[in-house]
Amino acid sequence: MAMPEPVIGSVLLSPDQIRDRLSELAADIDAHYEGRDLVMLGVLKGAMMVMADLARLLSHDRMEIDWVTVSSYGNSTRSSGVIRMVKEPDLELAGRNVLVVDDITDSGLTLSWLVANLRSRSAASVEVFSLLRKPELVKVEVPIRYVGFDIPPDFVAGYGMDYAQRFRNLPYIAILNF
Ligand code: IMP
Ligand code: MG
Repeated sequence: MAMPEPVIGSVLLSPDQIRDRLSELAADIDAHYEGRDLVMLGVLKGAMMVMADLARLLSHDRMEIDWVTVSSYGNSTRSSGVIRMVKEPDLELAGRNVLVVDDITDSGLTLSWLVANLRSRSAASVEVFSLLRKPELVKVEVPIRYVGFDIPPDFVAGYGMDYAQRFRNLPYIAILNF
């Protein structure tokens, strides 16, 4: 079956808007984790850009970075809720303060599954950072401590986020039109 061919539509968030918001959230994260250990756990591949930029804005000097890959069986624009961890964290997370860094929360199914999975590894704390959230599509409430932007229920790409693996390299976040 041929994939629909999307075109890049309007720019939702510019590089400047993203950077300004990340600076604000970095200050909150620094304050919260001051004097405590911190593992930033990025969700590949979508969180690669936001992790790189957010990590550089933090002054926390003992933080560690790790990655997981989760896969959700579904089509390319919707997750099914059937989730599996394709790449486990390299670090031992028991007793650690884990901040999950994700690109976007749509239904919330992926993050709620991931948070439950991390809690079962006896992390000292598990908090969530999501650059984007689509409040109108949330099916499962996930307590997200740090949200970059609430956005409309459109399909977006760029700044790490893809459609069929494309568009991750865009420095801005755009709405895709199908
Ligand atoms: P959820 O489980 O429905 O919350 O879906 C979360 C994952 O689906 C995100 O981490 C993204 O990888 C992907 N996703 C959801 N919405 C979009 C979008 O608008 N653009 C690109 N990826 C998306
Ligand atoms: Mg993701």
